[in-house]
Amino acid sequence: MAVTLARGLKDVFLDTTESSFIDGALGILLYRGYSIHDLAQQSNFNEVSYLLLHGALPNRSELAAFTQRLVDNRALPPEIIDTIRLVKNAHPIDVLRTAVSAIAAFDPEVSLDTSDPVGSRDSNICKAERLTAQFPTMVAAHHRIREGLEPVAPRRDLGHAANFLYMLEGKEPSPEAIAAMDLDFLLHAEHGANASAFAARVTASTNSDLHSAIVTAIGTLKGPAHGGAAEVVEKMTTEIGAPSRVHDYIRAKLDRHERIMGFGHRVYKAEDPRARHMRARAKSLGEQMGHSEWYEILTQVEKEMVPYQARGIFVNVDFYAGVVYALLGLPEDLFTPIFAIGRIPGWCVEILEQFDNNILIRPLLHYTGPKDRQYRAIDER
Ligand code: COA
Repeated sequence: MAVTLARGLKDVFLDTTESSFIDGALGILLYRGYSIHDLAQQSNFNEVSYLLLHGALPNRSELAAFTQRLVDNRALPPEIIDTIRLVKNAHPIDVLRTAVSAIAAFDPEVSLDTSDPVGSRDSNICKAERLTAQFPTMVAAHHRIREGLEPVAPRRDLGHAANFLYMLEGKEPSPEAIAAMDLDFLLHAEHGANASAFAARVTASTNSDLHSAIVTAIGTLKGPAHGGAAEVVEKMTTEIGAPSRVHDYIRAKLDRHERIMGFGHRVYKAEDPRARHMRARAKSLGEQMGHSEWYEILTQVEKEMVPYQARGIFVNVDFYAGVVYALLGLPEDLFTPIFAIGRIPGWCVEILEQFDNNILIRPLLHYTGPKDRQYRAIDER
């Protein structure tokens, strides 16, 4: 039988979705029908999280109630802080994965019935909102603990991004830092069947529970081909050190057939529409903080990569994200967990869609090994 392989499931439509639309050729991204550009310029992470989880933009009272629920769910059970202490020397993304796994045991809506771990749609929305609220606290608590400090309790009067930065540093962030962080969360909130959301759907498709699917997603996000790219871009920027060194550095990397992180995308063959907002933020933050050289290094790298555009390799969202985080004073190993803080509503909505219209995701593999081997007893091998 002739077999057509879809390696990497490239260009394969897995299912239908109403969460986000991506046109990779034209560089278009919509969240539930709204342009990412309109949302980036006029909305905020809380509103977008509500839009993704509940299907429509909230009115004032819906947004106030949603924000209140997030604020109410920010604190972690003391057992989770203890768990974070136990694994504090691991990479922050591994600590986040561990904390999410552990917190399932404390979630009031987690079903203990192993024949039906999924639970109701309402309970899953509650879990999704709770995880959206808890992720920043988990990441910030771990960062404090590994620095030998005590976790900072969340503040009810601060917004989502502001409270995250406050819990990390123990002091109120500047309005510019809050705006940059909120924009970053918004731009990362949802992105279709990306590798981590797909992995989450696979777990959900077995009728496993939402927390298990999120643990799967975090493990998948960790890789540098996905969520780990911003961390590598930042390392590259530091290694390059000055705009004048960009040409030789990039040429040498490409001559060794190495990839330049922050470029290329499985779906976008035009510029990632999220990149322009991070680029603008990297420029303005760099100027404000007296560190324009990082932005200049990156724009120089972009120029070096122009010939690759003919092959559909353009800058992606992670290219400028790393420098924004660095300008905010955030350590490189927090970049992927920060991506996860933004992506949690998107993961949850992908899982909810999978539950709503479930089918086991179980592709085939085309076997190419031998078929006629004779078994020999161990002493005869
Ligand atoms: N730098 C240089 N060349 C790149 C490249 C990059 N960042 N990304 C892709 N290419 C090249 C590949 O070498 C390959 O060339 P070839 O056909 O001569 O072998 C070609 O483009 C196609 O790459 P492929 O790996 O098949 O595409 P993909 O759709 O599987 O890969 C990514 C998508 C994201 C994994 C890939 O672009 C990548 O590794 N980018 C860097 C990591 C990154 O920024 N990830 C964040 C994504 S948001």
